[in-house]
Amino acid sequence: MGPLLTASCGLLLAALSLVPTRLSDSSSPVPNVPNIAAYFGTKSRYEEVNPNLLRDFVNQTVLRPPPGESCSPVHVTAVIRHGTRYPTLKNIRRIHNLSALVRTEGSDGSGWLRDLRRTRWEDVYPEHMDGQLAEKGRKDLRLLALRLSSLFPSLLSEENMRTRRLRLLSSSKPRCVGSVEAFQDGLLQLHGRRHVPPEYVQQVDDGLMRFFERCRGYVDGVEKNRTALIEVVKFKHGDEMEALRRRTAEILGVPLHRLTPDLVEAAFFLCSYELSIRSVLSPWCFLFDESDAKVLEYKSDLKQFWKRFHGHRINSMSSCPLFHHVFRTLDKAGRPRRATEAAPEPASILVGHAETLLPLLSLLGLYKDPTPPTASNYQSQHGRSFRSSRIVPYAANLLFVLYDCQRGPRLQLLMNETPVRFPDLPDDTPLYRDVRAAYRHLLDGCDFHRECEGRAEGRGPNTEL
Ligand SMILES: *[C@@H]1O[C@H](CO)[C@@H](O)[C@H](O)[C@H]1NC(C)=O
Ligand SMILES: *[C@@H]1O[C@H](CO)[C@@H](O)[C@H](O)[C@H]1NC(C)=O
Ligand SMILES: *[C@@H]1O[C@H](CO)[C@@H](O)[C@H](O)[C@H]1NC(C)=O
Repeated sequence: MGPLLTASCGLLLAALSLVPTRLSDSSSPVPNVPNIAAYFGTKSRYEEVNPNLLRDFVNQTVLRPPPGESCSPVHVTAVIRHGTRYPTLKNIRRIHNLSALVRTEGSDGSGWLRDLRRTRWEDVYPEHMDGQLAEKGRKDLRLLALRLSSLFPSLLSEENMRTRRLRLLSSSKPRCVGSVEAFQDGLLQLHGRRHVPPEYVQQVDDGLMRFFERCRGYVDGVEKNRTALIEVVKFKHGDEMEALRRRTAEILGVPLHRLTPDLVEAAFFLCSYELSIRSVLSPWCFLFDESDAKVLEYKSDLKQFWKRFHGHRINSMSSCPLFHHVFRTLDKAGRPRRATEAAPEPASILVGHAETLLPLLSLLGLYKDPTPPTASNYQSQHGRSFRSSRIVPYAANLLFVLYDCQRGPRLQLLMNETPVRFPDLPDDTPLYRDVRAAYRHLLDGCDFHRECEGRAEGRGPNTEL
C-alpha cells in the first residue's frame, strides 16, 4: 500500500488535485497480461479500459468546463457496475463440463496444455462462488472512490460521507451491496483492514437498479424470446465460430462434437476469470490468439446489443425509471437557491449491473453505429463503437457532472472516467437546459408502465417505481 493511502487523504487529495495523483496500492501481483485481455467483453478488467489506472494517475484534464467561463462542480451522479466477480452458476457449470472433458478425453500434451489438463478447475471455481464479488472487486470500487474523490474533492469527500450527505443506492444482489460498501470504505479511507466495522448507509432499490426484471414487455419480448436474439444464435453456429471450435478441439485433442460453442466460450472466460479474479496468467489463455478473441468478443457484443442495447427499443425504455431518477436529482441540484438554503446533495452513487448501465446508455443515444451488428456482418464491424469490453468492464461507471457556471448550470458525461458527448450536442459540457431540450421527448414521456405493460398508469410521466 502506497504511503498516500495511509495519510489523511481528504486534505492531501485536495492539496494535490491539480497534479497527477498516485492512488493504487502496489501490493497486488502484476501478471503478464495477454493481448486477448482487451476482448473479454463484460468480463474485462477495468485496467484494460482505463490505462491511467495502471499508471496510478487521476487525469484531471477530463473535467471540461468551457475555458473562459468560471465553473465549479456542484453535484455528481454516478451509475456504477459492481466490481470483479466470480462466474455465475451457468458459467461455473460450463467450466466443470469443460474441465471434465479435457481431463477424460483430451490429449495429454506438454507445457501449458498439460497444466490445463492436470488442474481440477471444479475446485478452483466451486458452485457456491456463484456471482460473488471477488476481493479484487472490492478493490476496484475502493480505488474508484479514491480517484473520484480526488477528481471532486468538494463533493465526494470523507466529510460528506461521514455526515451522510451522499446518497448511496444499490441493487439487492450481494455483489452490488459489497461494491457500494467498498466504495464507502474508499471514501472513509478504510482499506479492508477494519478496526471498527463502519456503518454503511446505502439503501437497496431494485426498482431503480434492476428495472429490467420488472418490465414485462422486456422479459417476454426479449429476454425469453429466442427470435429477439436470433442473431446471437446464428453467429454461435456460423462460419467464424465453427472455424474457431474446430481449431480449439484440435489443440485440446477432444472430439469435435463434444466441444460445443458454449464450452469454447467457457475456455475463453476461464482465461478472463483467472486474470481478473486471481491475477494470474492462465494456461487457458494460450488457446486463443487475438483474432480468435475478436470473434468471441463479437459473440458477446451481439448478445449485449440485442439483449440490452439498441437492438430492441424496449431494452432502453425499460430504464425509464432510472433515467427520470437521474434527471430529477440533477434538476434539484441545479435549481437556483438563496445563500441561506442548504447546499444541494453533493453526490448520488448508484451501484448496479452491466444490465443497468447498457439500457440507460442506449436510452441516452450513445454508441450508436450506422449499421447494427448481425450474424452476417462481422467483417464490416471491426470499427464499431459498441464494444462491451470498452464500455462495461467490471466497475464500469457513467458520471453525470453538474457544474455551476456563469451562464447557468452545465452538464458533462464521463464514461469510465473519459469524457463522452451527448449525441447532437457540440460541446463536452453543454448548458444543462440544452441537455434537457435534447431529451425533452423522454423527460415528457418514457413512461415505465406504458412501455412495459402497454398501458398508462395515470400518475403522470415521471412515475418512479
Ligand atoms: C489525460 O487525458 C487527456 C484526454 O482527456 C489525454 O489527452 C492525456 O494524454 C491524458 N494524460 C495522461 C497522463 O494520461
Ligand atoms: C454439462 O454436461 C452435462 C452432461 O453432458 C449436460 O447435461 C449439461 O447440460 C452440461 N451443462 C452445461 C452448462 O453445459
Ligand atoms: C419476439 O421477438 C420478435 C423479433 O423481435 C418479435 O417480432 C416478436 O413479437 C417477439 N415475441 C414476443 C412474444 O414478444
